[in-house]
Amino acid sequence: MMKYSTNYLLYIFCLLLSLGKSQAILANEPDSAYVFAYAPSSAGKASGLYYAWSIDRKTWHSVEPECRFLRSDYGPWSQKKIYSPSLTKGGDGFWHVVWQVNKTDPTFACAKSTDLIHWFPQSFPIMQYGDNCLSPKIAWLASEDRYVISWYGNLLGKDKYYSTYTKNFKEYSIVSETDKMPLSICDTVLIGNNEEKGTILCVSWKEIETLMRYAQACAYKKTLYGERVVQSELRLVGQQPLKATLSINEKDSKKISDKLIGIFFEDINYSADGGLYAELIQNRGFEYSLSRSWKADSFWRLKGKNATFKIATEQPLHKNNPHYAILTTDGKGAALQNEGFGGIAVKAGEKYNFSLFARTMKGKNGKLRIRLVDETGIVVAEATTEMLTEHWKQHAVTLKGLKTTLKGRLEIIPLIEGSIAIDMVSLFPQHTFKGRKNGLRADLAKVLADIKPRFVRFPGGCVVHGNGIENMYHWKNTIGPLETRKPQANIWGYHQSMGLGFYEYFQFCEDIGALPLPVVPAGVPCQNSERQQHEIAGQQGGVPMKEMDLFVQDILDLIEWANGDPKTNKWAKMRAEAGHPKPFGLKYLGVGNEDMMSDVFEKRFAMIYKAVKEKYPEILVVGTVGAGDAEELYDYTRGWEFATELGVPIVDEHYYKSPGWFLNKQDYYDRYDRRKSKVYVGEYAVHLPDRANNMETALVEALYLTNLERNGDVVEMASYAPLLAKKGNTQWKPDLIYFTNAEVETTVDYDVQKLFGNNVGNEYISSTWEVTGKENTDIRKRIGASVVRCSQTGETIIKLVNLLPVEIHTSLVGLDMNNATIERSVLHGQPDDTLATVKKETIFGQKNTIILPKYSFTVLRIKKK
Ligand code: AHR
Repeated sequence: MMKYSTNYLLYIFCLLLSLGKSQAILANEPDSAYVFAYAPSSAGKASGLYYAWSIDRKTWHSVEPECRFLRSDYGPWSQKKIYSPSLTKGGDGFWHVVWQVNKTDPTFACAKSTDLIHWFPQSFPIMQYGDNCLSPKIAWLASEDRYVISWYGNLLGKDKYYSTYTKNFKEYSIVSETDKMPLSICDTVLIGNNEEKGTILCVSWKEIETLMRYAQACAYKKTLYGERVVQSELRLVGQQPLKATLSINEKDSKKISDKLIGIFFEDINYSADGGLYAELIQNRGFEYSLSRSWKADSFWRLKGKNATFKIATEQPLHKNNPHYAILTTDGKGAALQNEGFGGIAVKAGEKYNFSLFARTMKGKNGKLRIRLVDETGIVVAEATTEMLTEHWKQHAVTLKGLKTTLKGRLEIIPLIEGSIAIDMVSLFPQHTFKGRKNGLRADLAKVLADIKPRFVRFPGGCVVHGNGIENMYHWKNTIGPLETRKPQANIWGYHQSMGLGFYEYFQFCEDIGALPLPVVPAGVPCQNSERQQHEIAGQQGGVPMKEMDLFVQDILDLIEWANGDPKTNKWAKMRAEAGHPKPFGLKYLGVGNEDMMSDVFEKRFAMIYKAVKEKYPEILVVGTVGAGDAEELYDYTRGWEFATELGVPIVDEHYYKSPGWFLNKQDYYDRYDRRKSKVYVGEYAVHLPDRANNMETALVEALYLTNLERNGDVVEMASYAPLLAKKGNTQWKPDLIYFTNAEVETTVDYDVQKLFGNNVGNEYISSTWEVTGKENTDIRKRIGASVVRCSQTGETIIKLVNLLPVEIHTSLVGLDMNNATIERSVLHGQPDDTLATVKKETIFGQKNTIILPKYSFTVLRIKKK
């Protein structure tokens, strides 16, 4: 089997060697010295826990100024800061640190470590006094076998001092108030020109040595991960084209996942409303007050004289959709306008389904004129409703575009004097993907389908666990008639109408032949949520345990809704009533999204996992192991441990990393234990410093995917993230596909996904790629090959990635290519190229030397006669 080894292994080797040698190297080094633990006051440094060392407690030396040993995980990203860290060594042999998280919340942070380097789970206990917790200090009380933590608060009137005791950092004694700070251990030292406050610890020289070695390893890693494809020319000056032989051993193969390539749809960057969901009216239900600084009437305005427009809530259409608009006019042409999502794109000749719910309030019953106008006011489509009634009733008309405009507006013009209540104003192109009602934008859905994804993960991402418990995504709020769905704020700063709900997601999966992979929250909100008011768990919160049974039941109901029998199950009946009597064939269920590993999470996840496993053993639960790799995250290591303890079949890993990280981590999954959970790489992308999409990112992703294919026996699925971004409404870059109201722009990264998605195999065939000069690591880590076979078609597919600034002339050995037809697809361009396109041609078997252009990705699909 072709294995890829990188000089990352060398680095690990050196690291181990240096750590092993961390005894005093020089004979005259001391046995012990001092470490100063502090959070630097200088604004330039990323907030965190840093160290300095000293032999005499007077002269202090930074332990590699760039090396941060601990980062706070409290609150939203802007708040993840460490203030006033205080450390002590406990009777349990661990170092314990506490720090202030901010100036407002009634909590401090705690973590523990054996080596001052790897800090164990962070917890944020809520202190009952409700005051803020400033400058917390910790001490180990040996005689009492417990710790005391003291702090001061200044929110409840004048400064007050508090203490609490704990043995285990889980249970705390009742907070007591005192006149002065019982503990005031705080040292001040001069580091460079800065006076810093922190804790001085006396440690062995070996411990200091270990800190220094660790910091050096971090600096080395930084260099490796800083490597770029654009530097290839510099690194390989004068390099001539290379010769290579790819030897394929068809007899040596292993089964790999045939579901490797999928997509991950999250409602980020206006991907749903204003994006994939084809609805053209913005704030159609007048519920925008739920989100941002918007109001219920946002994106609506009046045109004309003698008219008023207000928002009301009495006798709404549905309790989940409580706001509606009252439009009062003299019936002489005043209109209520909606500008859609930055203009309504209308196409000449296209038909649109318009509908709204209305009731007359005062005055006579009459009709409404519905118009689409362009930015100059020219009518581009028009129709008139039937007579309105005094009761809520849906009215629908068809509009036909007379002219194409990108900046169309909707106008609702009452033809009678008086007040009319209106709600759920909707405009849909008739041409949606597969012609589905309440469907998806045809052009966008098509580019997704063209990837031929084997699965679709939805609806997030962070959208799933939400900004606090109240903002979690509940699938039940997203099904049923549109007017009964429950809209809510989007964690990404806008609005979710839920028009694109679970029914539509499942339908889309079926329409494109992909497996649905819905994700439900694991009973905890996003750890980056704003402050939670919840009493039990601090920042991460968590559904109260007394509500967890219902929460779990909702998840079980989802399985019934998707797969159950409409005759016996009420949720399955709802699916049938919505138009899908047959089961949707749910197999995978994601639980949680890169959640913080804490007791709160683990308790809730285990409850959900066990309930699903017991009742639906056929459903494969996809667990979560944090947002990063073992090098940076406790969530990853503990997440894996926890998943292994529970026997979770698949876990979801996420990483957004530099090209250098991907180049140097090509053996990432070669090391994985095949007996443990399988892996779903649920979110990944190559991130450049400017977050561009270009050939550099695309080719590194192609290279990485060849590594995933090689490990397709343990990596079951993978999906790039994020998928979609609306130009002008993008919160996150890079993305796979960009769009406007009328156009779709795919990226070169998309081309890579499509080439992989269209060329999957279910068997990995052993090969060795001998390339001249491969002993040079700069060459070795910039090339990659993968050979797979599709047992259904019998075709062999070879993928070759060349990130070098020179061609590779490679001959193929070991495959009988006589009379074979080879379909060759090549994507190539300079690293900063954003416009490269895939060139496809058919070549014939006698040609068994293939030229791989510099900076290219080549796919050979070999059909034997
Ligand atoms: O893909 C964007 C975000 O990145 C996802 O919502 C989240 O899961 C991750 O942090």
